[in-house]
Amino acid sequence: MFYSSVTALALLVAPAAAKTCINQTIPVYLSARQAVFDLDIPQTNLEVPDFILNQTRQGGNFTNEVLTGYNTTVGTYNISTQFCMPSSSNVTNPTVQILTHGIGFDKTYWDLSFNNYNYSYLDVATDMYQYCTLSFDRLGLGNSSHGEPLNEIQSFIEVEATAALTRMLRNGTFPGVNHTFTKTVHVGHSFGSAQTYSLANLYPNITDGIILTGFSMNSSFVPDFAAGGNFQQANLNQPLRFGNLTGTQVSSLLNMYALNLVDFLAPIDLTTLATPQNLPNGYLISSNAEANKYLFLNPKFYDPQILTLAEMTKQPVTLGELLTLGSLTMTNNFAGPVMVIDGDADLPYCGSNCTATGGVAASLAAMVSMNFPNVAAANFSSYIQPNTGHGINLHYNSTGAYKVMNEFLASKNLMST
Ligand SMILES: *[C@@H]1O[C@H](CO)[C@@H](O)[C@H](O)[C@H]1NC(C)=O
Ligand SMILES: *[C@@H]1O[C@H](CO)[C@@H](O)[C@H](O)[C@H]1NC(C)=O
Ligand SMILES: *[C@@H]1O[C@H](CO)[C@@H](O)[C@H](O)[C@H]1NC(C)=O
Ligand SMILES: *[C@@H]1O[C@H](CO)[C@@H](O)[C@H](O)[C@H]1NC(C)=O
Ligand SMILES: *[C@@H]1O[C@H](CO)[C@@H](O)[C@H](O)[C@H]1NC(C)=O
Ligand SMILES: *[C@@H]1O[C@H](CO)[C@@H](O)[C@H](O)[C@H]1NC(C)=O
Ligand SMILES: *[C@@H]1O[C@H](CO)[C@@H](O)[C@H](O)[C@H]1NC(C)=O
Ligand SMILES: *[C@@H]1O[C@H](CO)[C@@H](O)[C@H](O)[C@H]1NC(C)=O
Ligand SMILES: *[C@@H]1O[C@H](CO)[C@@H](O)[C@H](O)[C@H]1NC(C)=O
Ligand SMILES: *[C@@H]1O[C@H](CO)[C@@H](O)[C@H](O)[C@H]1NC(C)=O
Ligand SMILES: *[C@@H]1O[C@H](CO)[C@@H](O)[C@H](O)[C@H]1NC(C)=O
Ligand SMILES: *[C@@H]1O[C@H](CO)[C@@H](O)[C@H](O)[C@H]1NC(C)=O
Repeated sequence: MFYSSVTALALLVAPAAAKTCINQTIPVYLSARQAVFDLDIPQTNLEVPDFILNQTRQGGNFTNEVLTGYNTTVGTYNISTQFCMPSSSNVTNPTVQILTHGIGFDKTYWDLSFNNYNYSYLDVATDMYQYCTLSFDRLGLGNSSHGEPLNEIQSFIEVEATAALTRMLRNGTFPGVNHTFTKTVHVGHSFGSAQTYSLANLYPNITDGIILTGFSMNSSFVPDFAAGGNFQQANLNQPLRFGNLTGTQVSSLLNMYALNLVDFLAPIDLTTLATPQNLPNGYLISSNAEANKYLFLNPKFYDPQILTLAEMTKQPVTLGELLTLGSLTMTNNFAGPVMVIDGDADLPYCGSNCTATGGVAASLAAMVSMNFPNVAAANFSSYIQPNTGHGINLHYNSTGAYKVMNEFLASKNLMST
């Protein structure tokens, strides 16, 4: 049996639990060549559209306009991770799937608690297909280290963080997991797919296969996403999560001035809320549930309650991320198996219709094969998931997509054995 230290831990977990997981924050030493941008960081909500207008203006490349050069960012950063394995398993050589979330989410995108985890990608990958999984909050977000939002938290250093975690899994130094993985596959969503694309290009020998969900190489519709988010400062939009207002402060204000509200809110104990993150200006977030729906959902094909959960748990995006989101090489060095899977109505990467290509290809997902000249035709697969928007995992038929993804990996001999 592999990883005895994890097996010992599993004994402490309630028997009803399915997958077995370890949550831990892992320090990683990183060095990354990053862009240096010269830009006034918007300081109010009203200044945010100034940036979005700049970024969505046609006929130019705003990233290039504000780029003054490159510099190396070096440091030790904390990454909040969740490593999971099947509840019971007879495999001796497990494959681990390394999962990178996109904008608007954190690692829980892969393990949505909604409807008793009926939408959990992790549950399908571990208990149905016997994979191990590593999901994590991308550097800069969630419970991972935060940073300066323009010149520090960019795509480049985030890719380095994913590469470092991958190397730890492959060389047996991943904390709490006593196993040297010989097969690692990388799965991304949206910006997480863009980062997975870059990781496979930069370090093709640390990944055995990639799945890019909610992704294409057509950047024409990214401005719809930038505009449709109606982005605001995260610290003003949800101050109890991202600002500097604590639940205890709100609670005592209500006690002083609005006793009826204390009773009205009685089921909610504001004093138990986590410490707010006090994010700086330049961490932006979609404004409300309507914007969240526009960006991620195909109307009528999701449970309205899952949008409520998505809005309560939504995550920001930094200016530096928005400026480096499209910094992708056109020709990718990777030569292993590649799948691209999109919801048929994906907004940012398909303009809400993935099969509208002007007749040049079956879909925008299929067209990504042109960017992988080293990948044999038989090793490239594209799939359009019906009745689905950009946030594939939030739709009624998300598990249908999960099966297509895991069957692809099995067909390429990347399953656990
Ligand atoms: C790790 O696994 C090896 C081989 O199964 C075993 O000899 C060793 O004791 C394990 N180490 C820990 C810390 O569990
Ligand atoms: C691990 O973190 C997830 C959220 O990412 C949470 O749902 C789960 O309960 C945690 N598990 C343990 C054992 O703390
Ligand atoms: C928008 O672009 C103008 C002109 O390039 C620049 O002066 C300004 O600083 C930019 N503002 C933001 C917030 O991006
Ligand atoms: C915009 O400029 C950046 C920085 O020079 C570059 O990496 C990116 O590829 C450019 N985007 C396009 C679509 O040309
Ligand atoms: C790069 O970083 C070094 C050290 O922090 C700094 O001295 C230098 O000015 C930076 N270069 C640019 C182009 O920002
Ligand atoms: C990482 O976490 C440790 C322990 O909580 C803390 O001391 C350290 O300051 C953190 N580092 C960063 C860069 O956030
Ligand atoms: C593992 O067990 C499953 C049934 O639970 C069986 O179908 C499969 O063949 C077994 N695999 C190995 C490698 O023994
Ligand atoms: C394993 O990989 C990590 C991350 O790259 C690295 O820091 C560490 O030195 C490596 N350990 C060994 C034993 O190779
Ligand atoms: C992977 O490639 C790097 C260079 O990018 C090289 O240093 C390393 O030895 C290679 N590792 C393996 C296992 O081939
Ligand atoms: C708390 O956040 C508000 C709004 O961003 C800001 O005006 C205020 O200065 C902050 N206070 C502290 C103590 O950081
Ligand atoms: C998507 O585009 C294709 C090709 O132009 C078209 O046949 C199809 O009707 C469009 N789908 C929708 C839902 O509009
Ligand atoms: C659910 O998704 C699977 C995989 O794409 C597909 O075969 C099936 O037809 C879908 N079901 C519905 C009801 O759309």
